[in-house]
Order: sequence, then structure tokens, then C-alpha cells
Amino acid sequence: MSKIIAVHSFRRGTGKSTLIVNVATLLAHQGRRVGVVDTNFQSPSLHIMFGLTSTKINRSINDYLWGQCQIEQAVYPLSSLAGALFFVPASPDASSINKILRQGYADELLIAGFDELIATLKLDFLLLDLNAGLHEETLFTLNFSDILINILHPTQQDYQGIGVLTEIVRQLKVPYIMMVVNEVPSILDWEILKSQIIKNYECQEVVLFPHTEEIQAMASRGIFVERYPHHPATQIFQQITEKIRN
Ligand SMILES: Nc1ncnc2c1ncn2[C@@H]1O[C@H](COP(=O)(O)OP(=O)(O)O)[C@@H](O)[C@H]1O
Ligand SMILES: [Mg+2]
Repeated sequence: MSKIIAVHSFRRGTGKSTLIVNVATLLAHQGRRVGVVDTNFQSPSLHIMFGLTSTKINRSINDYLWGQCQIEQAVYPLSSLAGALFFVPASPDASSINKILRQGYADELLIAGFDELIATLKLDFLLLDLNAGLHEETLFTLNFSDILINILHPTQQDYQGIGVLTEIVRQLKVPYIMMVVNEVPSILDWEILKSQIIKNYECQEVVLFPHTEEIQAMASRGIFVERYPHHPATQIFQQITEKIRN
């Protein structure tokens, strides 16, 4: 059975894309067939982390949604993980971003595209990078997801935002929700923080992730777990991956 994993946050810049590329890479290393779709139309960035330059992107999920290609034509096998990881970028082109934000897209078509990818590529997992915040299209996608990973920073703005999201997501009945609190300062009491998150938000799992200089220093270029396979932060990405697999 394939699983659709949606990665979401209330605000931008919380670490969605970083988590996706690293978890997808680990799953692929473990022999799983993994699809990754960038549906963050507003600020596409997965292609940068996967080392795909804008000029190399001929087809994107945007073209599929506009009826200009089949979704399989927008799949980019990544050289280091060929045959295991299949990536569908969102268009980084300014006019395409503008167009999709202005016109929107047919939700049903996007979901049909996911089904098509899962079937033709025989995927075990499909990871989705969603737009931050509350959008009708995002909620529609969540309806079809098996796992929701919600990423937040340990700030009052994010706690308030996740509270709002939790209220709405409750009605969608996503089977498994994981909260990832990212860039937690070492001086906080992690046990207390974790128990507060468990108490305040409905979820099956809470993972705390430290602020990691090496991640920041990579400046979103490349894949952290490949560059630093023995780093403690890689072990946390491993733990997240194991929870998703089980
Ligand atoms: N645990 C972390 N420690 C330090 N920097 C991080 C961490 N996680 C993410 N970052 C950095 O934060 C920035 C935003 O992350 P990104 O994954 O692009 O967020 P999003 O996709 O939610 O907008 C990036 O520069 C990334 O390298
Ligand atoms: Mg992103």
C-alpha cells in the first residue's frame, strides 16, 4: 500500500522542504520507491535542494495542471537516486507562478495526477510540499493524505497558527499526524516543550529538532543526510523516516 505524506506549516520558512528532501532520500536509500511533488506553487524550492537548475526544468506540475503535458512527462529521475526517487517540480518561472496563483487549478486534477504517479511509478511513498498557511487547495489535498507532518518553530505565532490548523484538520480525519518542532534552542527544556505540544495539539507523534548550524550553512543547496551521514541531526531524520515507514 502506498502512502501519501503531506508536509505543511502555518507559516513559511519553518523547514518543510529541508525535511522532505532528507526524508525522501533516506526512504530511497532504504530501497523504497519514492515520489516527491512540489505543490508549493508560491515559492518552489525543492528543485534547488535536489540540484536541478531552473533552466533544466522543461516541464513542471504547472504544465500538467494546465493540460499541457501528462504528469509522467514532468518527472525528473535524480541521478544519485535514479530508479528510486522521482521528482516533479513546480515551475520556478515568475510568470508561471503568477499565473497559477491568479487562476488557481482544479483540485481533482492534482489528486488524479498523484494517483497516476503512484500507479505508473509503483511508488511506496509520495511526499508533497504544500503551500504554507490555509488554502482551500491545501485542505483538499490533505483530505487524500495518509500522513500529515506539521512543522513549526517554537514561537507564539506558530503555536497560535498550529492551533488554528489543528481545528480545521480535525474535521478532515487524517489518519496520522506528526508535529515537528524545528530549530529548538538547546537552552529550552525539551521534555516540557514536548509534553506541552502533546497536550495542546491532536497528533500521534511529536519530534523536536535542534537548530543545526550545518543545515543552515548548506543554504538549501544539496541533501544534508548525504553530506553528513553521521551527524546527530541525520539520526533524527532517520527516526522520522522510521515512524513514517511503520
Ligand atoms: N534544523 C534546522 N537548523 C538550522 N537551519 C534550518 C533547520 N531547518 C531548516 N533550516 C533552514 O531554514 C531555512 C528554511 O527552510 P526550508 O526548508 O526552506 O523551509 P520551508 O520549506 O518551510 O519554507 C533554510 O535556509 C534551511 O536551511
Ligand atoms: Mg519550501
